[in-house]
Amino acid sequence: MQVPLRPAWLALAEHARGIKHRHLRDLFAADTERFAHFSLRHGPLLLDYSKQRLAQPTISLLHQLAEQASWRSWVERMRAGEAINHTEGRAVRHADLRAGNAAPPEVKAVLGRMASFCEQIHSGSWRGFSGERITDVVNLGIGGSDLGPRMAVHALAAFEHPDLNVHFVSNLDSADLASTLTRLNPRSTLFIVASKTFTTLETMANAHTARQWVMAAANDDRAIARHFVAASTNLPATAEFGIAPENVFEFWDWVGGRFSLWSAIGLPVALAVGYRNFEQLLAGAHDIDEHFFNAPAEANLPLTMALIALWNTNFLEAHSHGVFPYSHSLALLPSHLQQLEMESNGKRANRDGLAVDYSTNPILWGEAGTNGQHSFFQLLHQGGALVASDFIALGKSDFPLPGHHSGLLASCLAQSSALAFGQTVEEARAAGIPEHLLPFRRFPGNQPSTTLVLPELTPFTLGQLIALYEHKVFCLGVLWNLNSFDQWGVELGKQLAGRLAPCIRDEAPTDSLDASTRGLIEHLRQFRH
Ligand code: F6P
Repeated sequence: MQVPLRPAWLALAEHARGIKHRHLRDLFAADTERFAHFSLRHGPLLLDYSKQRLAQPTISLLHQLAEQASWRSWVERMRAGEAINHTEGRAVRHADLRAGNAAPPEVKAVLGRMASFCEQIHSGSWRGFSGERITDVVNLGIGGSDLGPRMAVHALAAFEHPDLNVHFVSNLDSADLASTLTRLNPRSTLFIVASKTFTTLETMANAHTARQWVMAAANDDRAIARHFVAASTNLPATAEFGIAPENVFEFWDWVGGRFSLWSAIGLPVALAVGYRNFEQLLAGAHDIDEHFFNAPAEANLPLTMALIALWNTNFLEAHSHGVFPYSHSLALLPSHLQQLEMESNGKRANRDGLAVDYSTNPILWGEAGTNGQHSFFQLLHQGGALVASDFIALGKSDFPLPGHHSGLLASCLAQSSALAFGQTVEEARAAGIPEHLLPFRRFPGNQPSTTLVLPELTPFTLGQLIALYEHKVFCLGVLWNLNSFDQWGVELGKQLAGRLAPCIRDEAPTDSLDASTRGLIEHLRQFRH
């Protein structure tokens, strides 16, 4: 059945006609207990969705929709290891990576090897080819093999190991690798080649160049074993690259790239913050797994986040979703969520291959507060586009300095409040704004937002935060009847790039290309690559 034909979907469409034009001011005036009625807690985690444009009947209908989409049975199918990623014939088992004692033996074995590798690097017992200890680790990966660990290492800067610097290189543009290597010494640098497939163009190009860089200093093939390790599912390809089998940290095809932070792809995180802190990250995610799998729908945070996103996207027609962590350390969270959400649910074919006639994932973007306030918030306040937002606040600062955190929190709450309630002309006049400026000082408000509060930013709460969004994505896939775990849309550009590379090098004719691409290639050829 197409999603829109579900009875609750039709009822929501009818309900939306009534509530769509109601202002958050009215909704708050009608229910003085709105915060209590529209917020959820999980331990010290708080999800306040009272500034969403919905009322109690909206929530009831959304829960009916979730029931009609059989969300629980999809959770069970995932947990049972069914190949719910049906277009690739794969199970979706990233929760098994963080199941602690209940994790499968192969997961525990790799985690054990990661722990001992971290110990060798941190203690200095692992040495480079010339006998120097490792001071710098460079993760070579892209997409899910970069964004998650990069974000987590940045987020957990307060926990970083004092004697080790962890860098990330992802781009095919040589500026990324070259600018990183100029600061490093090949004798004390270790590379992690992080690639699920071990075939990704960008990662392999960077890995081969990094290999030459080490070889230029070592002039001995044996140096590779001291300076290269891999995180991959493709053991034949890692062997062919020359990485010793004992230096390969394996994971499995049932771990999706954008869900792989919890696997060997998390090795740079474990190195950066220590293995015990990496375990805490896993424990935080596991805590949310348990909550998601067991909490009733009405108390379930990820399900609620998904239902709100669906309501905003399909019934209020908000096709843009801003994520604003009021935490400098969480500045890279929006980039990670972009892949997690948009690569998972930015799709037009439903699970049966039929074209959907409803919107799927909104465009997700974001920036840390307060920086965003001084760039794009103007448009959110007065630009007219409907944008749904997530504000993320921390109870305590991870790098406390007197006076900063209260100002940061005040800014966070001020923005969500201003977006929700705006300012009328009457209020502006009462505040003493001169008549001729009143039209410019009117703020319509009614921009929906959710505020998620973490007590503090630790490996555990970061694990919770990421897992909340992962399960939100899963629920949205169920509600939209999509396979959230494939990514065929990424392939087309890759295939075309493979065909165009010889044209750019002047090794293949351009006659069959479109006029624009041909014109651009002819223009670029003058610069010779
Ligand atoms: O961007 C497409 C993609 O396939 C992602 O899903 C994945 O995270 C990324 O490429 C990197 O892939 P790999 O880990 O195989 O190098």
